[in-house]
Amino acid sequence: MRKFIVVGNWKMHNTIAESIALAKAIKDGASDFKDGVIILAPPFTALSNVGDAIKGSNVFLAAQNVYYEDKGAFTGEISPGMLKDIGCAYVIIGHSERRKYFHEQDNDVNLKVKKALTAGLTPIMCVGETDEERLKGIMQDVVGRQVKQGLNDVEKIDNVVIAYEPVWAIGTGKVATPAQAQEVHAFIRGILKDLYGITADDIRILYGGSVTKDNIGELIAMEDIDGALVGGASLKADGFLGIIQNISGKK
Ligand code: PGA
Repeated sequence: MRKFIVVGNWKMHNTIAESIALAKAIKDGASDFKDGVIILAPPFTALSNVGDAIKGSNVFLAAQNVYYEDKGAFTGEISPGMLKDIGCAYVIIGHSERRKYFHEQDNDVNLKVKKALTAGLTPIMCVGETDEERLKGIMQDVVGRQVKQGLNDVEKIDNVVIAYEPVWAIGTGKVATPAQAQEVHAFIRGILKDLYGITADDIRILYGGSVTKDNIGELIAMEDIDGALVGGASLKADGFLGIIQNISGKK
């Protein structure tokens, strides 16, 4: 059985004190979760404190972004080694908000994925089409391109976690139907198998976009969905714990 992954992406929310309180509440509430891995991605400023708050638990630390150089004159950037140093095991790469507001391209995503792996971090690589691209009928072209270019020349593809996040579903309350999500997850698995020989059990693919405790049950029941990348609903302990609870024992 593939183990589930549930990621809370707090985006640009929470002070240090708020982050510690939320992380502790999640750690305590999820201590019985045995079916997979829980990951919290607080803002950079709270990584150290959240790392301390979850130490020794089944909750792991992720950053929301990383740069692809080890060190140097790159004002404002953070290297993979620095994330390891502060206790991160995972890093979100290529989130659609990074692509949209900070103009990250597939090539940046690829460089970041490779560098993160070299540093011993597990990348959570995000892909997903916009509303317009879906309406134009080019969803598969877009997602296929993002997957292939993001993984170009990556040696240990099975160490990457992929998150399918349709842009139209992020923060909109307009969750993909289980069938829509399953279709794209199966499409991504097909690419991974055909191009790289990666079988389903070797890689985890998460769904993200307006996931809540009320819709996770039917999403996780889909064959190719291995967990969730959660934004808004990860900002309150009961909402996030509800998602974890509704995933438990589902496969
Ligand atoms: P959302 O965000 O759950 O608020 O839609 C998901 C994400 O951006 O990862």
